[in-house]
Amino acid sequence: MTRVGRRDFIRKLPVLTAGLAGAVSVTTLTGCAGTRYLAPTPRPRGLSIDLAMLGQDTEAFLQTPDMERPIYLHRNEEGGWTAVLASCTHQGCQPEPVADRLVCPCHGSEFSLAGEVLQGPAAQALVRYDVTEEGDSLLVKVGGMGG
Ligand code: FES
Repeated sequence: MTRVGRRDFIRKLPVLTAGLAGAVSVTTLTGCAGTRYLAPTPRPRGLSIDLAMLGQDTEAFLQTPDMERPIYLHRNEEGGWTAVLASCTHQGCQPEPVADRLVCPCHGSEFSLAGEVLQGPAAQALVRYDVTEEGDSLLVKVGGMGG
């Protein structure tokens, strides 16, 4: 083990604090990234996601490489699922889940987790998709999906 004298410690302090700031920053990012992104499987009638992939999660973003914005999938208190396009109807930014609502970071619009407008400037609800449980998976009925 190498001993560090007081003078060396003070000289290295900026490096040590920078490393500590990086460690805190990584922890914060991990803590904020609560909603997972999952890759659904395109089916003729929409997007399919295995319930096992969701595990105990009550929400997830579903996104395939060809989607500009993900779909926000949420299980409500009654156990049903809702799915909305995470594209703000004001100018297209991506709302993020914050507690019991989806909040748009661009101009502050707020939506319920099922997509209704709670606060403008957005005037229209988020695009909603029907969700059905089919065996061990969920089908999000997105029009125009191939496969
Ligand atoms: S784009 Fe969402 S509030 Fe403006």
